[in-house]
Amino acid sequence: MNKPEQSYQVAIDGPAAAGKSTIARLLAERLGGFYVNTGDMYRALAWAARQNNIDVDNKPESLAEQLPQWELEYRRQENRSLQLFFNGEPISQEKLRAPAVTAIVSQVARIPQVRQWMLERQRQCKSLGVIIMEGRDIGTVIFPQAKFKFFITASPLERARRRLAQSGEVAADATLAKVAAEIEARDHIDSTRETAPLRAAEDAITLVTDGMTQYQVTDHLAGIIERGLP
Ligand code: CDP
Repeated sequence: MNKPEQSYQVAIDGPAAAGKSTIARLLAERLGGFYVNTGDMYRALAWAARQNNIDVDNKPESLAEQLPQWELEYRRQENRSLQLFFNGEPISQEKLRAPAVTAIVSQVARIPQVRQWMLERQRQCKSLGVIIMEGRDIGTVIFPQAKFKFFITASPLERARRRLAQSGEVAADATLAKVAAEIEARDHIDSTRETAPLRAAEDAITLVTDGMTQYQVTDHLAGIIERGLP
């Protein structure tokens, strides 16, 4: 008899630049699952808002009105990776990670209609089987029943250093102080918004990653998951 396909969710939440993406990608490789980056989904809407000249600070309702005309989905590629498609077109990391998109993404992500729209699309990813989903509200709102929940963080200085070291993600004139201020501003919006704020689920395992390499963090989480699987 064939072994039934495994299916479970790993939720990884935490503040900006905590290293969640790298850890989630490595974990997906190790567990043979799909890595789902929900931050990129919010970034895609921020990018679309810019393309359509929508003022998300002053007219968030204009963005909400566009949602029925927009479609966003992760499609399976060869080799277990996923590619994000916006209105049928693949959208590049270069566009998603541009500093101008980063500057407005948290304003987009605090719009309640946007979060409702995302909820349906993110829950659909369950059908992929084993998923490692990374974001801010995965363990609290999207998959409160996830089998494994982690909250990954690091001190503000460490996070600013990590982000500054990622080329293509910061403006050409970025300094440690500027990057730290941008991260702090986003964390503030993310954790004080009314709908699905950034916070650890009560049953999440929190890990402060200062001084740990990405491989040490991945090993630690993979160990917990492997011990918890049948
Ligand atoms: O990679 P980085 O840490 O810069 O952030 P991200 O994961 O790409 O997320 C970008 C922004 O999207 C966050 O600052 C949040 O405002 C928003 N976001 C959210 O509200 N909920 C999620 N599940 C994921 C991202």
